[in-house]
Amino acid sequence: MSANPIIAPFPATRLRRLRQNANIRAMVTETDLSAHNLIWPIFVTEVTGAEGEIASMPGVERLTLDGAKRAAERAAELGIPSICIFPHSDQDLRTEGCERAWDPDNIGNLAIRAIKETVPELVVMTDIALDPYNANGHDGLVRDGVILNDESVEALVRMALVQAECGADLLGPSDMMDGRIGALRTALEANSHKDVAILSYAAKFASGFYGPFRDAVGASGRLVGDKKTYQVNPANREEALRCVARDLSEGADMVMVKPGLPYLDICREVKDRFGAPTFAYQVSGEYAMLEGAIRAGWLSRDTVAESLLCFRRAGCDGILTYFAPEVAEALAHK
Ligand code: PBG
Repeated sequence: MSANPIIAPFPATRLRRLRQNANIRAMVTETDLSAHNLIWPIFVTEVTGAEGEIASMPGVERLTLDGAKRAAERAAELGIPSICIFPHSDQDLRTEGCERAWDPDNIGNLAIRAIKETVPELVVMTDIALDPYNANGHDGLVRDGVILNDESVEALVRMALVQAECGADLLGPSDMMDGRIGALRTALEANSHKDVAILSYAAKFASGFYGPFRDAVGASGRLVGDKKTYQVNPANREEALRCVARDLSEGADMVMVKPGLPYLDICREVKDRFGAPTFAYQVSGEYAMLEGAIRAGWLSRDTVAESLLCFRRAGCDGILTYFAPEVAEALAHK
């Protein structure tokens, strides 16, 4: 027993020293979040009366074309570099052949042109998948209950070329068919769209967290069966990494992990293994969980920015999030 307080045992490391006040904490902050890390997904409808709030995504609206233009202006004001367009199409015009997917005047393509006219420098991202136009709600063509991989890729290429023609800058293939990235890259190169980039939904899991999105685009009641024959089993990490390796080798410029928060381990591993621009999609169900709990008074609004910072800590260069305008606004006033 020592009687001398000077040589009394002490903690060798006091980590709390660097947490004492805001300035010292700021000096040792490892990760940051800016508006330029955000991609804002929006829903655009061609159906009169369908505009307005989406029941399972309170605070998120289906927009008209005018609404999409206003969103583009708002993104530019807030420093959000990119908007991703999701079409809500006329439900009666869905077909088994998905022909409207490559109609230059479908609502998605009208929105691309409207946004490019309004804010030319905004990076317009699109979704490549047949689900908004498919009678059965699937991302690929279906015959006798079976997804036709190679025929779907052909359809997706047609869809993509029209989007590129309309001015899309960044294509987001979310369909998970095999071979689509290579086919898209080849077709873009061959058709004078060599500067159109691909952000591949590479590690896209078969998730229940997409539920509210399917409400938003009118696919919920449509989907026959599930998407487990093309989306990755949530149990599988190695398989997700192989998807990323494959998509990068086929020419993807950037890759995505989706959903986000329950899959941060995958985000970290994708970034560490491949070093490619890596994005996460904080999907509709994650939005609904957070927003629902905040509105109920069970969580504070700070949890939104915290959740986005965690994506950055996990190695993501950016995040697709429905919270993008709200967070960018808050960052602007910090
Ligand atoms: C489908 C697509 C989905 C989402 C983006 N693209 C849904 C699905 O795969 O069923 C989900 C996005 C979200 O939940 O916010 N092409």
